[in-house]
Amino acid sequence: MFEAKAIRVDDKTALYRELAQQAGGLLSGERDAIANAANTAALLFTTLPDLNWAGFYFLRTPDELVLGPFQGKPACVRIAVGRGVCGTAVLQHRSMLVEDVHAFADHIACDAASRSELVVPLIRGDRILGVIDLDSPLPARFDREDQRGMEAIAEIYVKASDDI
Ligand code: SME
Repeated sequence: MFEAKAIRVDDKTALYRELAQQAGGLLSGERDAIANAANTAALLFTTLPDLNWAGFYFLRTPDELVLGPFQGKPACVRIAVGRGVCGTAVLQHRSMLVEDVHAFADHIACDAASRSELVVPLIRGDRILGVIDLDSPLPARFDREDQRGMEAIAEIYVKASDDI
């Protein structure tokens, strides 16, 4: 049984170092993309404070993201590349840090409680496999340190998992 260890949340560097270690342990020995995404979403949602949604969208065709494993309220299933925060992250091949979702014109509201959002791409070589999406009910919940920390988690997930 995997036991998530309590992590100090007042020190983000320590938080993401510990989270990366736990993710590495959690995913080791398993290469199934769905199983690893499900466990990663659960780890993120139970460990990171002030989230209302944590999960994956996978690029199942070149034009469209499809909902993967997540924790939180039921969410929109399909997002076109270039639409919303997630589709923009794929189009622009980069992480998206949105301090105020109401100020992001094309934000797709899956949970009305969401106020800020962090999306990091899943990158293998020069391909994008999908994204990890975190939502928070707090404005400006995420900063560059969260972005760097989550980009490291995305890399751990991609290295540990086969393509979906
Ligand atoms: N807000 C996202 C949609 C996904 S939900 O937040 C889970 C977006 O604008 O792409």
